[in-house]
Amino acid sequence: MTESSMRIWTGDSLTDAEFSAIIEKLRSLRQFDLDQYKDRCVKRRIAKRLRACKVSDFDSYLKRLEIDRQELDTLLATMSIHVSQFFRNPDTFRVIEQKILPDLCRRARAAGHSKLTLWSAGCAAGEEPYSLALLVDDLSADDLEIRVLATDISEPVLETAQTGLFDISRMKEVPSPVLDKYFRAEEQRYRLIEPVRNMVEFQPHNIMTESDYPAAELILCRNVLIYFSRPEQERILRRFAAALPAHGALVLGRSETITGDIRHYFQSEFPMERIYRRTEEPIELLGFENPAAEPGSRLMTTR
Ligand SMILES: C[S@@+](CC[C@H](N)C(=O)[O-])C[C@H]1O[C@@H](n2cnc3c(N)ncnc32)[C@H](O)[C@@H]1O
Repeated sequence: MTESSMRIWTGDSLTDAEFSAIIEKLRSLRQFDLDQYKDRCVKRRIAKRLRACKVSDFDSYLKRLEIDRQELDTLLATMSIHVSQFFRNPDTFRVIEQKILPDLCRRARAAGHSKLTLWSAGCAAGEEPYSLALLVDDLSADDLEIRVLATDISEPVLETAQTGLFDISRMKEVPSPVLDKYFRAEEQRYRLIEPVRNMVEFQPHNIMTESDYPAAELILCRNVLIYFSRPEQERILRRFAAALPAHGALVLGRSETITGDIRHYFQSEFPMERIYRRTEEPIELLGFENPAAEPGSRLMTTR
C-alpha cells in the first residue's frame, strides 16, 4: 500500500465497529473493561497508536495485539484512564472513616505502634490519597504518625497530583464545609491547601513489575486491577497480602473482586464497598510471582 492510499487514523475516522473490536480484544486479552469509557477521547487515543504503528489496515493491528505484548501494553498505557474523583464512591469513604481508620488506630495503639501507613496504589491525579488525607486530618489521632503514600505508574499524572489543583468536575462529592475549609478557588479550579498536600507522599511505582511493595495497614487499589489479566491480578493481590499485617484492610474498586486461592488471605468485611481484611494466614512470596524478579528468587518484601 502506498503512503497516499494509507488510511488516516483519527478519533473520528475510527468506526464504531472498529472501536468495539478493540474493546473486545482488550477484554479477551486482558479482562480490561472499557465499556464505561466509550467516548471520543478514548477513540483519539487508539487512533494515536494506529498512527504510531503506521498501520495500513485495521485487522492487521488487531492481530498484532494478539502477538505483540509490548504494543498491547503501550496501547493500554495510552488509553490509561486517569479518571478519578474526590471521595469516589462516598459509601466506601464513609466506611473507611467510621469503621476502618478508627479500628486501625485502635489496633496500632493496642500493639504499642506509633505509625500507620495508608497506601493509594494507582492514585491518578491525587483525588484518592488526598481524600484519605482529609479524613486523617479530621481524625483524633495526634498520638500516631499517619503516612499517606500515593503511587502511580504515570509520572506526568503524579506531577499533576502534586500541584493539588482540581477541576470542579472532580469534586462533586466534596461536602461544602470541606470545600470551604480545605480548598481555595483559583480561576475555574480549586487548590487544596498546602498542609494537606504535604501530608501525601507521591512516588512512581508499577504494581505489576515492582518487586518492592511498601508495608501498609490500609491499601486502596481501586479501578486499577481491571487493567490486568486474572493471573496478573492474582500476583498483585498476593503481594498486597504480603504488604499488609493481619487485620490490615484492602479496598478494591466497585467492579473488582477477589476470587480463587487468594481468598485465603482476605476476608470480605464490607462486601458492597469491596473492603477486605487480611486474614492471619501466613504468606510466602516466590520470585515467579514477580515477572521482574530472577527465576526462583525470593521477593524482597518490606514487612
Ligand atoms: C482509573 S484510575 C483510578 C484512580 C483511583 N484509584 C480511583 O479509583 O479513583 C487508574 C490509575 O491506575 C494507574 N495504573 C495503571 N496501571 C498501573 C500500574 N501497573 N501500576 C500502578 N498504577 C497503574 C493509571 O495510571 C491510573 O492513574
